[in-house]
Amino acid sequence: MTEDRIRNAADEREAALEMRLAFREIFGEEADGVVFAPGRVNLIGEHIDYNGGHVFPCALTLGTFGAYRRRDDCVMRFHSLNFAGDGIIVSAIDTMEEEPREDWTKYTKGVVWAFGQKGHPVGSGFDFLCCGTIPNKSGLSSSASLEVCMGTALMEMFGPDGVDQVENALIGQLAENRFVGLNCGIMDQFASANGKKDHAILLDCATLDYRHVPLDLSGAKLVIINTNKPHELVDSAYNERRAECEKALELLRAERPELSALCELTPEEFDAMEGLLSETKVRDRARHAVYEEARTRRGAEALRRGDLTAFGQYMNASHVSLRDLFEVSCRELDVLAETAWDTPGVIGARMTGGGFGGCTVNIVEEDAVEGFIERVGRKYLETIGYEASFYVVTAGDGAHRVD
Ligand code: GLA
Repeated sequence: MTEDRIRNAADEREAALEMRLAFREIFGEEADGVVFAPGRVNLIGEHIDYNGGHVFPCALTLGTFGAYRRRDDCVMRFHSLNFAGDGIIVSAIDTMEEEPREDWTKYTKGVVWAFGQKGHPVGSGFDFLCCGTIPNKSGLSSSASLEVCMGTALMEMFGPDGVDQVENALIGQLAENRFVGLNCGIMDQFASANGKKDHAILLDCATLDYRHVPLDLSGAKLVIINTNKPHELVDSAYNERRAECEKALELLRAERPELSALCELTPEEFDAMEGLLSETKVRDRARHAVYEEARTRRGAEALRRGDLTAFGQYMNASHVSLRDLFEVSCRELDVLAETAWDTPGVIGARMTGGGFGGCTVNIVEEDAVEGFIERVGRKYLETIGYEASFYVVTAGDGAHRVD
């Protein structure tokens, strides 16, 4: 199958060639070009993008390929090699808003819609073929990568003034928030749009200032483990956590009216004020956000000076906080992280992304990787009853044209 050939392609150019062949077969015309937008893994800084904090993700080399061709009318035709059974989904720029948002095209239509909302109306219709290589429902941002992929294809086709990859990330987030209906922060789309090979991105979500930090692991490896837990949409729990953080902020403003986000507080300031938060749950959520911000800044600094051991400890502490205070972990993620912590050669391990399933991210010494996979895999199967999947990954580039 073409989908497998793209997933297993030796490099991006080979994948792009497959995309072009598939495009011709499906739409009967030559594609104008092929783009790629990656998924992401977050190293530290979880659930604080919407609290004005810093996050530290990196883009992956897995992601979504998109082949496109501009049309002269206002018809949009979409096809996904991952949902080939859905066939070609036909829409139009002037009718898409009223159409049901049930299939995968809510993401791509949402991006076209968001371009318009942001003052860059898309000038004509187009044909768009995509293929994702991110393992299904793994929490590695397949939807953000699809949004950023669509946005990058629109940038190539229509070259709207003022749309760069920062704006493209904001457009993707707007699509997700207002067209798809998940109230996510900016991290996933930003990492997909602005990643850099062999680097992580230290992003200040309050200002969108960012810095690429070399991901120098001194020979250690980045290993992602997928729980393979059937990952139900956890939108309601996600939106609930956001609301609890907003409530905490509101209460803290009684003493500090100028506060605009939880992550503006230092841990010391928070400790002195936490009495204002009488509800345990609200206090715990806020405590996580404030301390996670401190861990992220200190962690990125530790990595910059080559102190991998300190970085690993911040990762572990982040997991504990997400488990006990923010309560977005689950048994599957805990078994993976906790087993990793007492496996030789592991520098750090934590859940990554929104939580409730999805993946953990681990830094493991190179010569320990094989034993790590064997031990954690066995323990997971014994305890949970089905297998986890392991991926040894590297940080890849943000969205770009492939050919
Ligand atoms: C999801 C959201 C992000 C971020 C993470 C948690 O991935 O899309 O915006 O909030 O959860 O850090």
